[in-house]
Amino acid sequence: MAGLIPQSFINDLIARVDIVDVIGARVQLKKAGSNHKGLCPFHNEKTPSFNVNPDRQFYHCFGCEAHGTAIGFLMEYDGLTFPEAIEALASSVGVTVPREQGREPPRDTSLYEVLESADLEFRRWLRSNEDAAGAVAYLKSRGLTGEIARDFGIGLAPEGWDGIKRALSSFGEQKLIAAGLVVKNEKGRTYDRFRERIIFPIRDTRGRVIGFGGRVYGAGEPKYINSPETDVFRKGRELYGLYEARRAQRRLQSVLVVEGYMDVVALAQHGVVNSVATLGTAIGQAHFETLYRHVDLVVCCFDGDEAGRGAAWKAVDAAFPVLSGTRQLKFVFLPEGEDPDTIIRSRGREHFQELVDQAMPVGEYFVAHLEEGLDLDKADGRALLSELAVPHIGRLPNGALRRVIVDGLAERTGIDAATLDRAAGQSHATDNARSDPTEPFPEVDQPSRRPLKPSGSQILFEIVKDPELIAVLDSETQVALAKDADTSLLADVASYLLEEPEADTGTLLARYVGHEGHDQLAEFAARPLLLPTRAGDFAAKVRRYIVDMDLTASSRAAEQSGWSMDDLRRHAQRRQEML
Ligand code: GTP
Ligand code: MN
Repeated sequence: MAGLIPQSFINDLIARVDIVDVIGARVQLKKAGSNHKGLCPFHNEKTPSFNVNPDRQFYHCFGCEAHGTAIGFLMEYDGLTFPEAIEALASSVGVTVPREQGREPPRDTSLYEVLESADLEFRRWLRSNEDAAGAVAYLKSRGLTGEIARDFGIGLAPEGWDGIKRALSSFGEQKLIAAGLVVKNEKGRTYDRFRERIIFPIRDTRGRVIGFGGRVYGAGEPKYINSPETDVFRKGRELYGLYEARRAQRRLQSVLVVEGYMDVVALAQHGVVNSVATLGTAIGQAHFETLYRHVDLVVCCFDGDEAGRGAAWKAVDAAFPVLSGTRQLKFVFLPEGEDPDTIIRSRGREHFQELVDQAMPVGEYFVAHLEEGLDLDKADGRALLSELAVPHIGRLPNGALRRVIVDGLAERTGIDAATLDRAAGQSHATDNARSDPTEPFPEVDQPSRRPLKPSGSQILFEIVKDPELIAVLDSETQVALAKDADTSLLADVASYLLEEPEADTGTLLARYVGHEGHDQLAEFAARPLLLPTRAGDFAAKVRRYIVDMDLTASSRAAEQSGWSMDDLRRHAQRRQEML
């Protein structure tokens, strides 16, 4: 994100927007007394239990317990990060988000308007340009109907060098270049990037056009051209088709990652509406971060060729650091020479769906791939397998998947699981020392061996999801949590919430904008809570945590001071008496 959003702006914005407008634009609401009611967008229901309260500027579903502010709603419903939600709210009331001095220069958001105008032109040309017949015939030959072309906003860049340049001349050449629509050659001549091509508009999750892909429909090279990276188009995290998939299936459960635009559109044509494609780049960690903001299951379905198989293995590496909690990753391997488009057209939806249903879980694929060519009947084969696996495992967050993989590997290599896990941890530590990759996802899961010990980040996660939980703690526990917690962010959040008992997730996040810890809190806020936290469980957990922390804090102090635990206890007692 470019620069920091000033806190005062966020406060003004929250005061200015009406949650009824924000939600009403996305969910059909009916006035009921002082509330507004509707069908909950977060779970399936037939009678409305979703309430929006304009007085408290809060929504709450009595069915699934979803609740929060306008910001929280946008994060959840549109799958936005916190800054994105702020941007969305700001633009809904027609103000621009100011940015404080930040690490990055501000983005030129006027490009959205340019791209939208280009999109309109491209679509208009597909309907009316003299070249349209050839393009439409091509789309038909690929089995696509006008309806699906409309759903995806498919357009046409006709023959000629300056169709867009002229149609959008009012924006000025500089803007058109910045938007990636016009190219300048060495001689300084400018011309349209997309010529004589079928155009696929690429949208962000809010539906704004951020770039285009163009495919030849006649002769010509290269087969595809994509918009370059621009201020609003980041290929590393955007995915073609995600907006359309979310629109087609409000409660998207899983996403299918395929290689090409045509695959996405052809699948949708046959009723598989949840596929996305990267934009001519390999799938990377940021893509997975985007995807797991929306779904828990990602199925990669790459082409049945050498490149496709290579892409699958790269995907494993890219996904590992974000595969925490309930997130799942699976792989479909298509027969040689096929891609999703050819398969669904020749074999039909049911066959394709079967392939997806039988997708291989990442853990299985991981081991199977590493095992290729190794003889596990021999000791050196087994040793090699563990050598190969350990650095990858080190990049997996603690959690179910890591456990499954480590256990599976332990069984195959005869090396015990704890040893493998430790080796993976060490390998990860040295990796970090070398390259310092920032940990993209905070830990929520506890290491497997002591499942009963509550972790600070688990408590923080539950508090972020439901700040009112702090109120169920007795005052002694509250104070202890705010003062003595090992995780300083947890202590900080707890003391803030004690001062501001009205704060909800949105205001909590708002307070941390620009401060250390914001990213972690935002990530927690965006992460789904599997089960609502029960007040009693929570209080007990926090008390146990505090007891645990007390112990670890004093034993650490003992270690550092060279005092024995007994000395320390006596010392603490004396201090207590003096107070
Ligand atoms: P169709 O021939 O239309 O079915 O395309 P495909 O999707 O099967 O193509 P392919 O598997 O060859 O490519 C997959 C994706 O890679 C495309 O959707 C593009 O994003 C990208 N791509 C393919 N060819 C080119 C190219 O020549 N240049 C660039 N920049 N990207 C390409
Ligand atoms: Mn294809």
